[in-house]
Formats: sequence, structure tokens, C-alpha cells
Amino acid sequence: MRRKIACTGIKPTGVPHIGNYFGMYKPALELAKEYDTRYFIADYHALNSVKDPAVLKKNIYEVTATWLACGLDPETQIIYKQSDVPWTFELSTMLMAFTPKGLMNRAHAYKAMVQANTENGKDPDNGVNVGLFTYPILMAADILQFDSDVVPVGKDQVQHLEMAVDIAEAINRNYGKELLTIPKGVVRKETGLVIGMDGRKMSKSYNNTIPLFLPARKLRKLVMKIVTNSQTIDEPKNPDECNVFTLYKLFANEEQQEALRRRYLAGGMGWGTAKQELFEVMDAYLAPMRQKYEALMADTAYMETVLRQGAEKAAAIVSEKMTFLRAHMGM
Ligand code: TRP
Repeated sequence: MRRKIACTGIKPTGVPHIGNYFGMYKPALELAKEYDTRYFIADYHALNSVKDPAVLKKNIYEVTATWLACGLDPETQIIYKQSDVPWTFELSTMLMAFTPKGLMNRAHAYKAMVQANTENGKDPDNGVNVGLFTYPILMAADILQFDSDVVPVGKDQVQHLEMAVDIAEAINRNYGKELLTIPKGVVRKETGLVIGMDGRKMSKSYNNTIPLFLPARKLRKLVMKIVTNSQTIDEPKNPDECNVFTLYKLFANEEQQEALRRRYLAGGMGWGTAKQELFEVMDAYLAPMRQKYEALMADTAYMETVLRQGAEKAAAIVSEKMTFLRAHMGM
């Protein structure tokens, strides 16, 4: 029996942050112990919003360096850039022939834009590009081209994954054969639970993120700005209603958590001290990865090589799959 396949993409649209790490990179890398991975940088998906070539290029390097710094092994696993495998786009066109327009009308990103336009008295499709509209089809191609078994995703991607399943089932039904493997989503409980500087979900759109590989000094500065209440040093504090402690739990071991919890409850510890404790566990956790990240960012030629080799491996799999599909479709 073939080894099971895990596939996921990350859009290079901004600096990877702590929320991305615990929500995406870390769980995806844990899956890599059990599955063959096809992980990629979704640069064509990013192109819908990132139109500045220098920014896109930098974003691609940052996501690549993050995958590698977090422990992805390019020798045993596949990591590549979406735009390097042209067959994905051929499959995407093939899938379009089996995708009802109504299905795309229901995609949440598109629907939200239409609704906002309608409320503002504008044309419903104002500012909507076709790339955004067909976004879930390209994502389905990313997944189905590898016969992926599992797709680690955040909650916001569950609908897209269901669409990939719908499209694959339509094709299998039409040809009376399982031409495409039906993928399953792996939605992590932690996803969405990482809070940002202000206690809301950590998200670029809330402007409350803590970048993953900030240099130590800058990281400390940012940690000092995490929103807390106005309790004085003397007052006992509730660790379970505190942004600093919530983040602390992600990085500290049980013993450290218990110790800091006691200091919260006892009183006599100010927010500056709690934040310093948080900074220290974060820095200890992140420093080794940060070092790798910085070395990678200084060696883009190496990353280019890794991506090229990954693309070659991915392309070999996908081109074979396309030959198979074309034959079954009578082309
Ligand atoms: N749409 C995903 C996101 O914004 C990124 C993505 C593109 C993806 N293709 C994928 C995720 C295929 C999983 C599988 O996060």
C-alpha cells in the first residue's frame, strides 16, 4: 500500500507570525512524521493580493525559510513553489469543466465582497477579480493533483476543502471510477486559538501579530506592549484571563506554567515582570529556529535550489497524474 499523503499550501502574503506557527507550520510538520508531504508556497494564490514583485519575492523567501527553519527536511519531503509546476494550472482548467458557477458564488471570500458591495450600493462584482472568484478551484487542483489523503488547514479553509471534495466527487461520478482521491481536512483545535497582542485572534487583518522570527531585542519590545489590565503590582492576578499568560502557555513547560501561575495568584508581581518571563520562554523556544531562519534568508541561492528540486519531484508526480486523467477523459 502506498504511504498516505499530506498536502498543504501557505500563501506568501506577509511575515509568518506566532499564530501561523502554532496553527499551520507546527501541526503540518508533525504530520510529516507519518505522511509523505507535498507542502508548497501558494504564490499564484498570493498574486490576487500581492502585485508588487519585490514584495512577493521577499514573501516567498520568508515562507520558504520558515518551513525549513521549523524543521521541514527537503531531502525526505517535498517543498516547492506552486508557480513552478505548470500542470497544476492545466488541472485547474480541467476542474473548471466540473465546477458549477453557483458553487463558486458560495465561497465565503467572494460572498463577503459581494455583500459589502451590495450594502454600499455598488455593483456586486466591484473590485472582484476572476482569480479571487476561482480561488477554490486552483486550491482544489493543488490538493487533487497529488491524490492527497489529508490536508491540514485552518478553520477558514474548511469550506474550500469541501469544494475540492465536491469537484472530485463530480469527476469520479461522471467517469464511474475513482480517478481522484477524496481528501480529508485535518482541522487543528489550536488553530485560531493563538491570541494576538490585544487578546483577539492573532491575525494580520487585526494588526496584532507577533512575527515569528523577530530579533530578540525587537521581540522583547513587542512583548512589553501586550495589552494587560490596569491592576497594580500588589494585586493578585488571574492567569486565566490574561493575554500574557495565555501566550506563555504556548512556550513554557508545565512546571514553568505552574510556577508563574502561583506568582500571579500571590500578588506582588507587576505586568512588566510577567512580560519579561514571557519574553524569556519565547526567546528560548524560538532562538534556535531564528538562527536557522536568518542563515537561510542570507542564502537565497540555497533556497532557490531547494525549491527547484522540490518542484522537479512534484512535477514528476503531477505530470504523470495529468497523463492518466487526460487519457480517462478521452483527450
Ligand atoms: N488557501 C489557503 C490559505 O489561504 C492556501 C492554500 C492554497 C492551500 N492552496 C492550498 C491550503 C491547498 C491547503 C491546500 O491559507
